[in-house]
Amino acid sequence: MTQLANEHQAVNLSQGFPDFETSPELIDLVYRKMNAGHNQYAPMEGVLRLRELIAEKNEKLHGYYYHPETDITITAGATQAISTVITTIIRPGEEVIIIEPAYDSYTPIVKAMGGIVKTLELSPTNNYRIDWFVLRRLINSQTKLIIINTPNNPSATLFEESDMQEFIRAVEGSDILILSDEVYEHIIFDGYKHNSVIKYPELRDRSFVVASFGKLFHTTGWKLGYCLAPKKLMEEFRKLHQFQVFSVNTPMQHAIADYMQDEESYTQLGDFFEKKRNMFFKLMEGTRFKLLPCKGTYFALAQYDTISDETELEFAKRLVKDYGVASIPLSSFYSQDIDNKVIRFCFAKKEATLEQATKRLRKV
Ligand SMILES: Cc1ncc(COP(=O)(O)O)c(C=O)c1O
Repeated sequence: MTQLANEHQAVNLSQGFPDFETSPELIDLVYRKMNAGHNQYAPMEGVLRLRELIAEKNEKLHGYYYHPETDITITAGATQAISTVITTIIRPGEEVIIIEPAYDSYTPIVKAMGGIVKTLELSPTNNYRIDWFVLRRLINSQTKLIIINTPNNPSATLFEESDMQEFIRAVEGSDILILSDEVYEHIIFDGYKHNSVIKYPELRDRSFVVASFGKLFHTTGWKLGYCLAPKKLMEEFRKLHQFQVFSVNTPMQHAIADYMQDEESYTQLGDFFEKKRNMFFKLMEGTRFKLLPCKGTYFALAQYDTISDETELEFAKRLVKDYGVASIPLSSFYSQDIDNKVIRFCFAKKEATLEQATKRLRKV
């Protein structure tokens, strides 16, 4: 869609990246770290000071201390962490449960490892809520891994406390592992709280948690993130990480460590994006799209069934060509052929970008 958007000079609300700059202070820190000589390989696990700060942050937020030496590894974005987790644990014939719509990098890696993907499809008719009875029925003796993502891209929903309790019951007594993708952990609105698996020992002890500095500091192009896991699981993760990437960008790790010492660098993120969400929803009021509830992330779903009966892909393409606005069809987040007449907009954009896009959408 981004390519099509560029071809048609469309306003690009498709891909999930901010069109505003990161903090000048953070950029300056990278420059200073480079000048200070931090230009050679970092340790395989990541810069220790950064891992220590991540450990402190998680202890403060979730009441559990991941040991920086043994339980935390800095990765080339959350994407590498996800890929390394799956390649570490999945062998041919093993099953992985993925809740769809889902971020698109999970399924291909599972398949590349010879794993079998079992999907649970959620729909807008019940606000993308998980039916735990149906999820439990997907679990069998071959189930090796369940992947969750809260706050969720693309549905903008959250796991609530009742979901966490159902999740605990679903895996109780099994050896199932969990990959918990929490890259939007700080982008939550309306007073809701982030329910991380870290808070629940029954889940945490079997989980790999992945996070992204790209989402935290508006630096998606830096491709830095991390993985948290109990020592035994992290040992296995590092056996592959060592040979897949060895280590990641040194000066940026040092810069981020300095920058994140100030907690406000990430604690204000929810308010920042809540304002953007409110602005986008207000601007969309004059359109014929029906926006679905958005509790977190920087994505909003819009239903267009009263506007057109085209497929999501046809409609999204026409929005680019005829109206100059790029979105993503939700069908691209499902492995089955599912079409609910829903598209996704990214509102991590400047006010002027959102104004321009919605002005065009009002003509639809
Ligand atoms: C749910 C989810 N997980 C992971 C990622 C990838 O994060 P990173 O850019 O740190 O690789 C994204 C990026 O859009 C995402 O939406």
